[in-house]
Amino acid sequence: MPRPRPLIAGNWKMHGTLAEAQALACGVVACDAAAELLVCPPFPHLHPVAAALAGSAVALGGQDCHHAAKGAHTGDVSAWMLRDLGASYVILGHSERRADHAESDALVQAKAVAAIAAGLRPIICVGETLAQREAGQAEPVVAGQLAGSLPPGFAEAGGVVAYEPVWAIGTGRTPTEADIAALHASLRAEVLRLCGAQGAGLRLLYGGSVKPGNAKAILALADVNGALVGGAALMAADFLAIAAAA
Ligand code: G3P
Repeated sequence: MPRPRPLIAGNWKMHGTLAEAQALACGVVACDAAAELLVCPPFPHLHPVAAALAGSAVALGGQDCHHAAKGAHTGDVSAWMLRDLGASYVILGHSERRADHAESDALVQAKAVAAIAAGLRPIICVGETLAQREAGQAEPVVAGQLAGSLPPGFAEAGGVVAYEPVWAIGTGRTPTEADIAALHASLRAEVLRLCGAQGAGLRLLYGGSVKPGNAKAILALADVNGALVGGAALMAADFLAIAAAA
């Protein structure tokens, strides 16, 4: 099977003013990379960023959604609301949400079901802690997260998996290329087991301290089909340099 088109996704997390978000969006629309580009701003910036992206090929995504379609859930945002604003993706189960909000695999799976029902493509994040890696548990931990988080119909809905080792996020540290390749090979085997033949074309992203300087080597690895970028996605030039490396 040919390699899927790479996806370079920027997770803006809880950064920036409205003016900065608009400027960043205007900076990335000029991209002519072969990769698909996606930006995921904070909720309050989604609407103005959607306006800045209008007419461009850059996709819009949310950073989370509730598992219910609507209801009395103060402070939450539904997948339908994201879709209504023009989003086509939503990041789910990021390690920061798993840690800050005690999100379980079962909750992530329920959110993914809601996302797919709303017509969004879920990007489900998995990754081990440093202690788990040092204990030789990275692959089983990630396999367990996948088995618990991926809903039925995930591959058919264009779902994406992002492998983000917790200890590599925002630290400037990355696994070796051999370690990323080995982990992604195990991810591929697991999505084939969970999703059947459709898992062969499912995009597997690497995330954690991706920068212009290391993007080319990481993105060239087998079974790495793109990147989920945090800090380096906050500078249009860096994000576009990563996209150009895909
Ligand atoms: O979701 C992307 C993120 O967790 C990686 O962050 O800053 O290490 O690129 P960063």
